[in-house]
Order: sequence, then C-alpha cells, then structure tokens
Amino acid sequence: MGMLCYLLLLCLHMMIPCVFSQVKDFVSIDCGARGNYTDPNTGLTWVSDVSFNRYGNVVEFNTTNKISPQYRSYRYFPADNKKYCYTLPTTERKRYLIRATFLYGDSNFDDPYPMFEIYMDATHWSTVKIKDASRVYVEEMIVRAPSDSVPVCLCCASTGFPFISTLELRPLNDSMYMTDYEDNFFLKVAARINFGAMTINPIRYPDDPYDRIWESDLDQRQNYLVGMAPGTKRIRTLKNIKTSLREYPPLKVMQTAVVGTKGRLSYRLDLDGFPANARAYAYLAEIEDLGKNETRKFSMLQPSIPGYNDVVVNIAENANGSYALYEPSYMNVSLDFVLSCLFSKTRDSTRGPLLNAIEISKYVQIVPKTDSQDDAILDALRSLSSKGAWRHESGDPCVPAQWEWVNCSSTMPSRITKIFLSNKVLNGSIPMEIKQMNQLEELWLDGNSLRGLIPDMSSLRSLTVVHLENNRLSGQLPSYFAELPKLRELYVQNNCLSGNIPPALLSGKFIINYDANPGLNIIGGSGHQRSLRFILIVVSGTFVASIILLLGCLWLLRNRRRKSLKSESSEKYDSFRIVSKHSTRYSISRGASLFADENFDVACYISLSAIEEGTCNFSTKIGEGSFGPVYYGKMKDGKEVAVKISSDQSSHGTQQFVNEVSLLSRVHHKNLVPLVGYCEEDHQRILVYEYMHNGTLRNHIHDSEKKRSLNWLSRLLIAEDAAKGLAYLHSGCNPCIIHRDVKTSNILLDTNMRAKVSDFGLSKQAEENFTHISSVARGTVGYLDPEYYANQQLNDKSDVYSFGIVLLELISGRKPFSVEDYGSDWNIVHWARSLLRKGDISNIVDPSLIGTFKIESLWRIAEIAILSVEPHGVCRPRMQEVELAIQDAIKIEKGSKPSSGSSSSSSNVLALHVSFPSSQLEILSCNSSNNMNLPSAR
Ligand SMILES: *[C@@H]1O[C@H](CO)[C@@H](O)[C@H](O)[C@H]1NC(C)=O
Ligand SMILES: *[C@@H]1O[C@H](CO)[C@@H](O)[C@H](O)[C@H]1NC(C)=O
Ligand SMILES: *[C@@H]1O[C@H](CO)[C@@H](O)[C@H](O)[C@H]1NC(C)=O
Ligand SMILES: *[C@@H]1O[C@H](CO)[C@@H](O)[C@H](O)[C@H]1NC(C)=O
Ligand SMILES: *[C@@H]1O[C@H](CO)[C@@H](O)[C@H](O)[C@H]1NC(C)=O
Ligand SMILES: *[C@@H]1O[C@H](CO)[C@@H](O)[C@H](O)[C@H]1NC(C)=O
Repeated sequence: MGMLCYLLLLCLHMMIPCVFSQVKDFVSIDCGARGNYTDPNTGLTWVSDVSFNRYGNVVEFNTTNKISPQYRSYRYFPADNKKYCYTLPTTERKRYLIRATFLYGDSNFDDPYPMFEIYMDATHWSTVKIKDASRVYVEEMIVRAPSDSVPVCLCCASTGFPFISTLELRPLNDSMYMTDYEDNFFLKVAARINFGAMTINPIRYPDDPYDRIWESDLDQRQNYLVGMAPGTKRIRTLKNIKTSLREYPPLKVMQTAVVGTKGRLSYRLDLDGFPANARAYAYLAEIEDLGKNETRKFSMLQPSIPGYNDVVVNIAENANGSYALYEPSYMNVSLDFVLSCLFSKTRDSTRGPLLNAIEISKYVQIVPKTDSQDDAILDALRSLSSKGAWRHESGDPCVPAQWEWVNCSSTMPSRITKIFLSNKVLNGSIPMEIKQMNQLEELWLDGNSLRGLIPDMSSLRSLTVVHLENNRLSGQLPSYFAELPKLRELYVQNNCLSGNIPPALLSGKFIINYDANPGLNIIGGSGHQRSLRFILIVVSGTFVASIILLLGCLWLLRNRRRKSLKSESSEKYDSFRIVSKHSTRYSISRGASLFADENFDVACYISLSAIEEGTCNFSTKIGEGSFGPVYYGKMKDGKEVAVKISSDQSSHGTQQFVNEVSLLSRVHHKNLVPLVGYCEEDHQRILVYEYMHNGTLRNHIHDSEKKRSLNWLSRLLIAEDAAKGLAYLHSGCNPCIIHRDVKTSNILLDTNMRAKVSDFGLSKQAEENFTHISSVARGTVGYLDPEYYANQQLNDKSDVYSFGIVLLELISGRKPFSVEDYGSDWNIVHWARSLLRKGDISNIVDPSLIGTFKIESLWRIAEIAILSVEPHGVCRPRMQEVELAIQDAIKIEKGSKPSSGSSSSSSNVLALHVSFPSSQLEILSCNSSNNMNLPSAR
C-alpha cells in the first residue's frame, strides 16, 4: 500500500499518465468515435461506442486542436417514441460514478438546440437542455449497481434530437459515497467545488484516481459562485496531506483552500433541481502552520440546519493534527435552490474559517423496473430467435419508452400486458414460465416455428387475445381457455395439435379457429360449428380491417400534430434563447421548479461593474419606483434595460433579497416585466429589468397630448394585458404572489403599446423591513384597499381593489385621488359610484373619448370596476373574472358581439344588476344594504 502511494505520488508529480489499479475498470465510451484510442493528455483509453450501440448516426466536427478528442464527434438518435440505450457492465452492489457529457458543437443543423431526457434504468436522471453549443454539459450520478449492468437511455426529445458525446463509468472504492438510503435513492451530483484552485481548469483524472471532476472556484460562470466575503484569501501548500478517510479527495484539491482573514467566509451558488434532500460534504484540512497559541475555530451560520449551527469546528483537533483530512457531512439535509454558505470564526479563535472543498448531491428516488419475472420471460422469448432488430432493444422493457414488441401497464412496477411477436422467426417452445405473467392481455406468437405443447396459461385471467396460429405446436388443445373470463379470440389453426377439441371451447363465447390441425377431432363434429366459426372470422376480419383503417387515420393525424407541435415548440424556443444564460454546468433539469413555465431560466447575476458600464455610471435616470431610483442602461449584448437600485442600504435581509430574486426570476409571463438579472455587491441591491419603451400607463393617461392616441379599444387591450399578468401572479404561481402596489405607474407599455405589470413580488421585502411598525401598509394612496388598510389582512382581493381604481382611471382619465377633482369625496371611488348609481356615465367618461366607443363596452368595464372596489374583499370578483369582463368588453367594442341596441342610461343601470353571472349575484346581495340602495355616506 505504501509503495503504491509512493508510486502514485511520483506519477502525480511527474505528470506522467500512468495506470492505476482502478483504471482497468474504467469504461470510457467516446460516442461516435471511429476507433479505440488513448488520450495522450490523460492516458485514458477511450473506446468507440460501436460495440455498445447499433442505432443512431454520427456527427463529426472538423478537427480543431482546442477540443479534446472525445468531443470531436457525437452520436444522435431519431426524435421518435423509442429509447436508445447504452448498457454499462457493472458488479452488483458496487458503487460507481456514471457520467454522461454532451457537446453539441457548431453543427450545421437549422433545428433548435436539443432538449431531451436521460434515464438510468427506469429512473429519470436528467433533462438535457442545450443552450450553448460550445459548452460541454456534464451529468453525473453516483449509484450502487442494482445488477450486473446499468442501462443509460436517451429518449423523449422535445426539441431537436437526443445525442451524446461521452459516457463514462468509474468504479469507486468500497467506503466511498455510502449512504443509508442507497436501496432507494441514487445520488445526482449538483456541485463539487475545489476552493483556492490554482487554475480555472477542473481537477480530475489522473489527479483524482476516481476521475471525479472538481470544479475550480475561479470559474467565472454566472451564478456559479458569488457573494464572497471581504478578506477572503487563497492559500496553498505543497506538503503532503493525509486524505485516507471515507471519500479520498485528491491531494491536489486538499492542498488549496480559502480562508476568511476577516473572520468570515461566505459563498452562494445555485443548485439545479433543488429544493431537494441532499447529501452534503465539506472537505477540510489545516494547511497553514499555526503558532503555538493560535487556534482556528469556526461555526457554520448558514445554511441553517437544526443542531449543526452551534457546532464549533476546529479542523486540526477534529482531524487529529494539521495536514490531515476532516470531512464533516450531512447525510440528509434539505437545501434550497439558492445555497448560501456562511462560516464565521468564534470569538476566542485567532484565525478565520478555512474551506478546501465541498460536494453536494441530490437524492433521486429509484423508480422500480418492470416486474422481474415478466422481464425474465421476455428474455426467454428473445432467446428463441437469432434474427431481427427487435432483439436488441435494451434498457427496461417499459420505462421510459416501451419496446416495440410489448405493451405495458402504467402500474409501478410496470407489468407486461401485450406481447407482439408475430412472424419473428421464433424457434423452440413457448416458455412455461409465461403462466406468471398474470397481467397479460394479448399474446401474439403466430407465424413462427414454435414447437412443443401449449403451456399452462390458466392463471392468466386477463387474457383477451391469443394468436398461436401458423406454428408447429403439438399436443392437446387445453380446455382451460374456456374458463378465461375475458377471452375474445383464440387462433390455433395450422399447427400440429391432436386429440379432441374440448366441447367447452365451442360454446361460441369467443372466436376460435382450429383449422388445419390434422390430428384434431371435434366430438360429434358438426358443420354447424364450422359455419359459425366462419361467420365469426368474416365478421372479425372486417372488424380488423376497419380498425386498421382507423389506426391509419389516427397515425396520419398524429404525425400532423407532431409536426405542428414541433414548429410551435421551436418558436417558443427562439424566444427563450434570448433570455437564456449559462446555468451551473451540472444538472440542467429543474425537476422541483416552483413555477409552471419550465422553459425559462433564472435571471443571472450581473456584476456591479457591468451594470455601471451599461448605465454609464447611472447617468440617465428614468424614474423613481417604490424600490428606489430607476436608470436606463444598455447591456453588452445590446439589450436595453431598466436598472433599479434599492434605496435601502441596510445590510439586513440580503439573504432574503437573494431568495426572493431567485424565486421572482422564475416567474415568467408575457404580461409581466421580465427580470433580466440582479446584483448584490457593496451593500447595493440592484435589479435589472427589460426596458419598456413607452413608459408607464400613468404617463400616457394623465398627459393631455399622449392620451389622445389612447382610444377606448387600446385602453381595453392594456387593461386586458395587465389583468392577465395579475391573474397569473394570483393563480399561476405557486406560492401565489400578491402585488400589493397595483397602479398605473406600475403598468408599463412596450413599443406596441402592449402592457406588462412591473414591481411585483418585492413587496415582502419592503414589509419585512418594517415589521416593527405594524401599522404601515404598503401601497399607494388612492389605490390602497381600505379593508387591508384597516386590518392588515392581505389577500388577492387587495390587488383587485387597486386594479378597479386603474379601470376607473382608464374610463375617466382622472387621477385616483385629488381634492380639486372630487371635492369632499376625495377619491375617485365615491365620485364614480355615485354617478354610476344615477346611470350617469357621460359625466364619468374621459372627455377625449367622447364619441369613439360603444356605450355597452364602457358599461361592462364600469360594472366590473365598481364591483372591484367594493369595500369588502369577499364581494369583489377574482382577477380572472375581471379579465373575462374586459375580454367581453373588447368583443363588444370590436363589434363581434351584437350590441343590445339600448343606449338609455337607465336600462344600463339595469344591466348592471342582471348581467352578472349567478356567483356574482350572491356577491352583490352581500352588502347591498349600505351600498346599493343608500346614498353615499360621505
Ligand atoms: C475497442 O475496444 C472494445 C472494448 O475493449 C473492443 O470490444 C473493440 O473490439 C475495440 N475496437 C477496435 C476497433 O479495436
Ligand atoms: C470540414 O472540412 C472540409 C475540408 O476542409 C470541408 O469540405 C467540410 O465541409 C468541413 N465540414 C464541416 C462540417 O464544416
Ligand atoms: C480502497 O479501499 C480499501 C479498503 O476497502 C483500502 O485498503 C484502499 O487503500 C482503498 N484504495 C485507495 C486508493 O484509497
Ligand atoms: C431525508 O429526510 C426527509 C425528512 O426527514 C425524509 O422524508 C427523507 O426520506 C430522507 N431521505 C431522503 C433520501 O430524502
Ligand atoms: C501569543 O500570541 C500573542 C500575539 O498574538 C503574543 O503576543 C504572545 O507572546 C503569544 N504567546 C505565546 C505564549 O506564544
Ligand atoms: C492522534 O494523534 C496522536 C499522535 O499525533 C496519536 O497518539 C493518537 O492516538 C491519535 N488519536 C486518534 C484518536 O487517532
């Protein structure tokens, strides 16, 4: 062992690739390579995938010196409903690191970039989503091999086609990556970071004999590692370090570290696919020579893990000496999408915290494979033939896509319901074990050379269709078929069956064909039976023919739909490419995303310097929002942005800011202003939004010049857009988001005068800062829901109230709050309500609209606006109902809905009462006593 270590070190120092004991067990598959070769940089032997996979086609790139040989080609597969698998040889119960990589390269395909799924056995591994053709996407899974092979399958392309560049199998040493959960969970690697790295390149084989990839903390990928505490210093040593603990991190990784010279060490990174339960490891070794009376003691303040945050780490003590490994770990910890780490030295410690490396993996629940007995019988059937591509279908028979020749149940584990092996050159006898396939419904083994007896299938109670015709089967025709409750067809003609046909089979309950079995006798044979059989066959023949026709049509239709779906998704794709960013190199899926729209990514982190450059040092102020001042800017890629700077300089709530932003950035809707990125540096909190060229709705509606161009229909369209955005916040997001500050200055207009809602979701932040002044309600005077103001109970109806005010503004062109305009009433609500109650709409409507609208359309909006500003939240409609009312008004205005012909104002007041759906009638009655009948109290 000592000798081996010595050799190992020698190799490392001389950087000569040399063969370790593990290496002979490495499987390194270069997908699409023409032949086997040894990579001179690593000394690893790569084999072509020809012997692993017989499907797909190869794309080769023109050789450039920059990329390593295994990325000069890839194999791609058709975007069909099949799966394409590589089966890796394993030793049962041994642990492995399995890695798949994907480099799309600058292929000359016009198609959108691929997005597809990879599976390990029946377990979903990841969604591979290519956004940057020049980047190598890496997926890593640590598994304990369930059997003597592990299939890795690609399938289910939603854009482009499935492809793969390399597939690597790395055996791990016995102690490594053992968890209490490995019977039921795989480990999907989410982050493995080497701190204090010497170069930007990751460390892997031969430095790590297990060929793990240790990413460099110098890597500048966006959102990769941010939020580094001031005073962080990189340190390194050349001394040897004892690393022989459980996980054997490589020496080179342990020889570098970061220390917080000012007492703190902090980092933040995104964990794709989280929130989830994870296994988290820190690798620590004291690599500074501490003085006699010096100590390094620290504790972890974040993430907050019950029971762990008060634990004081003293590396040298914990590791029993300097230059020795200590591996504190959490075997099962629940982590969020944004991981913030914060270590802080204890008061009595003379040195700050130190960190050499971390590793975080997500637990992925293992999905059971198809029933093993069913699977074994399929294997037995497969071995009856030596011809045909169907025999090479690999992976699980059912998941993620079923083999061509079987159908499966949707149970877990899957069961086989249909075997379809007509005319497949099967030779031999039907396996006796078939009696265990008790979910089998259809068995098609006709047109082969099967011999021997018909096996016992009496326990297959679900059988409906059995086709054994045109074989060489012999022996008796079993009578149990008569007892199968669901049997509809039994075809055994043209075999070598003999003996008497059991009379029960001729009861006429199902179709039976036993022709051309020379030895078969009918007891008291009668022509009647034969003709019955004939009729049944003719009938079933036409039935089959029509089924085939129907299926043909369906197939055609399906193909068409697939095509149109494809073009749709590629359109969607184009729009998302604009907002895409580099996510962390590992997982690309967002399995546990909180929001429905999976096609978008989180906003990226933008450095302060980039923002300063983009805004010319904040030279063009374009507004002042509730968050703070807003500046115009232009990013490097030409994108115009609005940059909002928090006016709150307190250092509290930074964590909350980050969490909120990362949640917000995953809210995407075409009627919400998209968040492009954010920055949090030097106590500055900055949000970068897409720039909206036509400014706020407020500027348009209260500007005598601009409001002229805003006719009634365009106001309706703006209202519809804004209502959609708000409705999405209320019911499309989980958790539901309440805007809290709906007003015309938070509705922004793009170049086409379509509206997007802005400034949502940050409200929580604002309120959190004022928790000690509980009487402060957020909102803007004139828009503030009186109910919320009175009792601080916030719900979606507060937004509805504010939006009702916006609608009244759109109708009247007046400001919501003004002593001159409304006299003693003060606000637009009382003024509008009293006029509308009198049926007097002409005095409400914006003078610049007069004569340009249909009165019914205006009334529809007036009705919904007045309902929305009901004093009690329960009486107000939901946002979706408001949206529907606006769409109604648009239809009327566009003339697609016949107008009622009545233009007298009094009948319109009537309409106010009768045109609501019944659910709103209830609502109306709920406080009619003080609002509908009595004059306003003010
Ligand atoms: C490449 O290596 C594999 C596995 O060792 C072997 O099966 C295959 O025959 C080799 N191919 C060539 C072309 O040498
Ligand atoms: C590769 O290079 C050859 C010759 O230089 C050229 O004919 C071929 O089109 C190139 N292929 C691609 C995919 O660029
Ligand atoms: C692998 O594990 C064995 C014990 O299971 C240990 O003796 C050996 O040193 C380990 N190998 C390496 C390279 O760490
Ligand atoms: C981790 O802990 C959670 C909560 O205690 C538990 O539900 C889960 O099964 C545990 N294991 C894994 C692998 O998630
Ligand atoms: C301990 O360290 C302090 C300075 O940090 C020094 O002044 C003092 O002499 C040291 N004491 C011993 C016993 O080394
Ligand atoms: C710690 O190290 C000392 C020598 O450095 C040794 O005597 C002692 O047994 C070690 N303790 C443990 C628990 O390994």
